[in-house]
Amino acid sequence: MTDPAQRTALVIGASRSIGLAIVEQLAARGWTVIGTARGDASELHDAAGRSDGRIEVEQADLTDQPSLAALRGRLEGRTVELLWINGAIPSTDAPGADATVDEFTRVMLTNALGPMHAIGALQDLVPPTGTIAVMSSTQGSITLNTRGGYDVYRASKSALNQFLRSHAARAADDPRTLLLMNPGHVRTGLGGPDAQLTIEEVVPVLVDTVLAQDGHGGLQFLQRTGEPIPW
Ligand SMILES: NC(=O)c1ccc[n+]([C@@H]2O[C@H](COP(=O)([O-])OP(=O)(O)OC[C@H]3O[C@@H](n4cnc5c(N)ncnc54)[C@H](OP(=O)(O)O)[C@@H]3O)[C@@H](O)[C@H]2O)c1
Repeated sequence: MTDPAQRTALVIGASRSIGLAIVEQLAARGWTVIGTARGDASELHDAAGRSDGRIEVEQADLTDQPSLAALRGRLEGRTVELLWINGAIPSTDAPGADATVDEFTRVMLTNALGPMHAIGALQDLVPPTGTIAVMSSTQGSITLNTRGGYDVYRASKSALNQFLRSHAARAADDPRTLLLMNPGHVRTGLGGPDAQLTIEEVVPVLVDTVLAQDGHGGLQFLQRTGEPIPW
């Protein structure tokens, strides 16, 4: 494994919550970390100010392909050993039959198509030994869906998982490691105030698991603790 001091991670969707904590966790472990925000980047700038130069702040919106292409252009010549696509938005709890076209479109574009566009735009920065991790959710598991709830969000994470399965199947010879990660139910804007877990409890374990897959290759859908999740 390369010395962390020589390794760079790029975290898409790092303005706050879990994404910001991933950036800070990797920087604390000696990585150089480029975190992106789509709008207000004040918390990320604060973290960069405390990071002794390890954290860099960039701009990107998963729903805006030109912004992803522009980010790729600004990173010309860089190598990104870990590309971590974190950004997503929640849906309402409405059943699919009541979901509006507007909500479906926004959530699907952000949570399913956006990460694929980010992979398309940025994956050539990731070397053959590198990792592309995407934040999914157990809510994206079709096997585990016995209760429904937050149907559009669930559908978006299932679509994301399916996209990654297709991506991995099309690039079966690609040695890069592909991960779909579930952090657990975490107290954030998206997870809500009643979630059992805090960001501080989750992120070090999540980062341990992602880094432990270094060089594994193939596609896995994993809990933060490393157990496989049924598709
Ligand atoms: N919290 C949970 O319980 C839980 C459970 C399972 C999976 N997850 C997944 O974990 C990830 C992080 O969740 P979280 O709880 O930290 O959510 P959060 O508190 O709502 O934060 C979401 C992050 O995604 C960014 N984002 C939203 N839309 C974006 C876009 N179009 N382009 C780029 N970035 C965008 C947000 O940026 P802005 O500040 O600009 O809005 C923010 O940084 C998500 O993929 C989520 O689905 C969370």
